[in-house]
Amino acid sequence: MCGIVGYVGQKQAQDVVVEGLRRLEYRGYDSAGIALPKDGLIVSDKRAGKLANLEASIAATPLPAATAGIGHTRWATHGAPNDLNAHPHQGSRGRLAVVHNGIIENFAELRAELVAAGRTMLSETDTEIAAHLLEAEVVAGHDLTTAMQNVCRRLEGAFTLVAIDAAHPDTVVAARRNSPLVVGLGEGENFLGSDVAAFIDHTREALELGQDQVVTISRDGVRITTFDGQPAEGKQYHVDWDLAAAEKDGYDWFMRKEIFEQPRAVADALLGRRDAEGKLQLDEMRIDASELQGIDKIIIIAAGTSYYAGMVAKYAIEHWTRISVEVELASEFRYRDPILTRSTLVVAISQSGETADTLQAIRHARAQQSKVLAICNTNGSTIPRESDGVIYTYAGPEIGVASTKGYVTQLVACYLLALYLAQTKNTLYGDEINGVMDQLEAMPAHVQTVLDEADKVYQFARDHVDTKSVLFLGRHAGYPVALEGALKLKELAYIHAEGFAAGELKHGPIALIEEGLPVFCIVPPKGRDQLREKMVSAIQEIRARGAATIVLAEHDDEAITPYADEFIRLPKVPVLLQPLVAVVPLQLFACELATAMGHDVDQPRNLAKSVTVE
Ligand code: F6R
Repeated sequence: MCGIVGYVGQKQAQDVVVEGLRRLEYRGYDSAGIALPKDGLIVSDKRAGKLANLEASIAATPLPAATAGIGHTRWATHGAPNDLNAHPHQGSRGRLAVVHNGIIENFAELRAELVAAGRTMLSETDTEIAAHLLEAEVVAGHDLTTAMQNVCRRLEGAFTLVAIDAAHPDTVVAARRNSPLVVGLGEGENFLGSDVAAFIDHTREALELGQDQVVTISRDGVRITTFDGQPAEGKQYHVDWDLAAAEKDGYDWFMRKEIFEQPRAVADALLGRRDAEGKLQLDEMRIDASELQGIDKIIIIAAGTSYYAGMVAKYAIEHWTRISVEVELASEFRYRDPILTRSTLVVAISQSGETADTLQAIRHARAQQSKVLAICNTNGSTIPRESDGVIYTYAGPEIGVASTKGYVTQLVACYLLALYLAQTKNTLYGDEINGVMDQLEAMPAHVQTVLDEADKVYQFARDHVDTKSVLFLGRHAGYPVALEGALKLKELAYIHAEGFAAGELKHGPIALIEEGLPVFCIVPPKGRDQLREKMVSAIQEIRARGAATIVLAEHDDEAITPYADEFIRLPKVPVLLQPLVAVVPLQLFACELATAMGHDVDQPRNLAKSVTVE
């Protein structure tokens, strides 16, 4: 949610900043802007809409040469997505510019104070007050670092701020609280970004910042302090994904590329999880086995797609460990006064590691003394940093706003967690765990088999380009997959889509069935006959009422053929692992339908990749 870039070095700052914004555009695309210092004054350009609008404007009216600069790509919170509200924002003297991600909660009060002091606000944003406050500090004689410390102590809420003072064009200063910011360490140049994608073209060495810290970058140095001015240190790490991962590589969309990367992503998520004796090891679990043995309840908290991964996790954890699991929407969690004890394990699933709802939920859980384990894809992000332990999902960068490989690798991490708990609590024998691990290790090949049939799904999507509504039905672990299929379609195609537990159909939703309505039906594998038969009955019921059934079932489940308008054949896998293969055709369908409808698949309207406001 909002992408932020800062640069000081020897290259043309405009090129570095715009390239960084291009790589961060998935975080928000309501507007984009850049500010550079020139002869003691700020030169800035900012445009509503996608980055292309800013690029066109810069091409028409070139910016001056400069070797430092800041940039922003916006997901609007305060104020409409127009040119005026676009970042960077400036004070009144034209000397200082600032970009911001997050929400300054006490902005109304600060704004009133500034207006009373005679300042004129040009925008409706909360950010502009930070520009005025910083400007007042530097005009009073403070350097920008001290100014940032002083201002941050007055701000409440969540913010990453990056500022440049044209009177000192050799430094860029940033600060973070509850919002992401990483430093890229170059040679004779340094970078700031909301995530490492901002500078991956230039350096693989990154520095993770702590909460409530200010960082000052210059060509040759990086200095970190607390908001109180005390020296602080960042944690350096190497970014190991390769640059190609942030390129489309011949695909029309990042999302489509990421769907096709899923076999590799699942394999990577499983890599190195068994030691020489075949025992499961989770390197960054950090929570002692003795503590895990005492766990008597698990609460999974997450949002959106990650929440649906959590729903699958419940089936696996309860089945393999007999520990009771609740799955909660992160945004609801702390407001309902949840029952948490020292023997509750809270598992936070977040691809980005920055989702504000999930972050606030884990803070609440930790305040109640519960252990928190994060399942996360983003090294250095806030949620794993504030958790007791973490399982990284190793999906690599996910640029498409709608999660795909992020989701399947979350599923893998959930299975690993379930098996690890079973190992720790002795609820499964070692060879049973190894048996499931073998099945998991066969999953990349199974996912590939489903991808090999993509053309059939594409054709089907193109045939339904006028569809106004699609339903998804599943049972057991197929139910969360139905919900995920519906979410993908809503996000990308902007049409009505709903997922149901198939058993609920007769309790109401069946009234929605009408002639020609496409209904995806995820059929449990044949080994689970009771479940499977009930699903087949549901399919018969809706077909009798005219629905067009698209049935996802085991490839040799011929008994299903009479009820399937379309039969998408899935490989034979255990019911608990079926989500890994069943979700793939639903992702392909949503991607292709949205493409056929002419929508931007990578940057769906109103969405942002990481939602850093509550
Ligand atoms: C949907 C999607 C979102 C995210 C949700 C949580 O495709 O990506 O629903 O799953 O915003 O995000 P994370 O996992 O980053 O916490």
